[in-house]
Amino acid sequence: MKHWNLVKEDSGIVVATLDKAGESANILSAEVLVEFSQILDQLDLYQPKGLIIRSGKDAGFIAGADIQEFTLLDTAEKSRALVARGWDLFNRLAAVPYPTLSLVRGHCMGGGLELSLACRYILAVDEPGTKMALPEVMLGIFPGWGGMLRLPQRVGPTAAFDMMLTGKSIDAQRAKKMGLADDAVPPRVMEQAARQLVLSGQPRGKLPLLQRLLNGPLKAVVASGARKQVAKKARQEHYPAPYAIIDIWQHHHGNALAAPEIIERIISSPTARNLVRVFFLQERLKGFGKESAVKVRRVHVIGAGSMGGDIAAWCALRGLTVTLQDQSLERIAPAVQRAQKLFARRLRDPLLARAAFDRLIPDVNGDGVAHADVVIEAIFEDVAAKHALFKAVEPRLKPGALLATNTSSLKLEDLRTVLDRPDRLVGIHFFNPVAMMPLVEVVQAEGADPAMLQAACAFVRQIDKLPLPVKSAPGFLVNAVLAPYLLAAMRAVDEGLTPATVDAAMLAFGMPMGPIELADTVGLDIAMAAGQQLAGASQAPRCLQGKVAQGQLGKKSGLGFYAWRDGKAVKPAADAIPAGLAERLVQPLIERAEQLVAAGIVADADLADAGVIFGTGFAPFTGGPLNMQQASL
Ligand code: NAI
Repeated sequence: MKHWNLVKEDSGIVVATLDKAGESANILSAEVLVEFSQILDQLDLYQPKGLIIRSGKDAGFIAGADIQEFTLLDTAEKSRALVARGWDLFNRLAAVPYPTLSLVRGHCMGGGLELSLACRYILAVDEPGTKMALPEVMLGIFPGWGGMLRLPQRVGPTAAFDMMLTGKSIDAQRAKKMGLADDAVPPRVMEQAARQLVLSGQPRGKLPLLQRLLNGPLKAVVASGARKQVAKKARQEHYPAPYAIIDIWQHHHGNALAAPEIIERIISSPTARNLVRVFFLQERLKGFGKESAVKVRRVHVIGAGSMGGDIAAWCALRGLTVTLQDQSLERIAPAVQRAQKLFARRLRDPLLARAAFDRLIPDVNGDGVAHADVVIEAIFEDVAAKHALFKAVEPRLKPGALLATNTSSLKLEDLRTVLDRPDRLVGIHFFNPVAMMPLVEVVQAEGADPAMLQAACAFVRQIDKLPLPVKSAPGFLVNAVLAPYLLAAMRAVDEGLTPATVDAAMLAFGMPMGPIELADTVGLDIAMAAGQQLAGASQAPRCLQGKVAQGQLGKKSGLGFYAWRDGKAVKPAADAIPAGLAERLVQPLIERAEQLVAAGIVADADLADAGVIFGTGFAPFTGGPLNMQQASL
């Protein structure tokens, strides 16, 4: 066999190791599944004492189905055949007379988890990389290879929906606690533990009575609750898959083949096509910086304000040692407090949170500069201040260290004039709030050192963000496309629509936040300055001028277009939304994105779409503004 390796041990246990040829991670391609069915044929004859399924890859267990194969599904028959391929095979695995065990170490996603669920036992290896998930919903599809049947049976429908409708992943300990894994063991004992468990004859734990009722006679109650939860987050016309998952579980016992009309509707939906596109766009961003061998260990951040403080905290969260500089300890203290909350929320384990906290070092004197692999400047947006800082910092840098600025609006070409080696300055432009926004623009000024740009992309990947290379230009990509969109939204307010109506139109379109609320969040003074610089507005919208003149600057001053209470906008009810409003407001964004692609600020239309989706949350089901424009032509 090309992808599987079969070993028959003296004990009568057979170990099947998946090591997909020519790939660093295992995926369940058509070929891999055909070979697996041949293994089951052989074992029908041999009748082992037990079967252990494991991975031969360092990267993890199984990353899922072959997503490339989805892009080839152009007929209803092909879609049904793809679902049947895994559904039938895993039903066959679930029915074999000998005990089976899936040894899960590292990621176990989608089809990989469905294969594991068809085994009698799941043994999770307790290490940080072990993660189990059914993320199909994020691609606009459903776990059709038995996930919708077997996950609710194993963990109860509430916990199963929590996983299937969000795509979230579960670590080894949590998997054990919720009954998804039979046990979680450290790597050093996994071999022995797997053999013991598969031969143990131990019956699978039964679900508690309530969960069995919810999985049976009370299905309708669970389904209706789940539909309400989903409706809060995703409209059915934009995201049909989560609704389909609930329907298939409730009415078809988790068997999508019993509802061919749902298969056809979901797999051929523009949403699935676009979300698969977004997946590949994300993979493309992840590829930037791969050529660089740079491995960052120490980061020095200068400016502990809202951005610098959060950038420093994020780097410490991701395992780097970070020194954080500002003019006084008092200015660093609020950033450290915010960091503490972030660590507690994200790491949960107090020991890990403590370790992250220890990696974040206040550094008023800037001693960290001399040891840092990356120095990020995030001080006031002022050329003279940044010049003075760069002059002081450059002589103290390690040779080869990366010097970066987080500036939003100043030209790198102007900032680097004071440097001895101006070609080493790159922009690493984070978005606010740092912990939430996946995109980071890596800004290339004319004549910048390509090795530095690659190192910047590699650094961004190392801290688990998505780098987007852009050329130096006002607003780069993301702010440049947002500005004319916000301007159009405020002009609509000038024309008499209420802010709540404008925002409601864009939420209905599929944006994560309305443009007026976004302006309030950014700060109306900043929105006004950006409007002048980026949207080419000769005159700011009247509504904006009025607010700024009265000192109503949005969220930070408690009042803007909305009143802000406890960090939330208090929104009055929206009026009826005029037809075509959303399309009209989004048009300037699309046009600006087209101009930026034409000017080479971003390399191509796909990357522009990726940047706008991951930098603004632009409705992912559309596949991005330029993709949407293309589809409507
Ligand atoms: P901020 O005003 O919250 O923080 C700036 C910090 O820098 C202050 O704590 C200040 O004490 C410190 N600082 C000033 N001069 C210093 C010096 N010479 N040495 C050490 N510390 C010094 O500013 P914010 O919003 O964090 O912005 C910082 C940079 O990030 C700016 O260049 C801005 O354009 C950029 N940016 C801001 C975003 C935002 O949403 N606020 C988003 C992306 C980039």
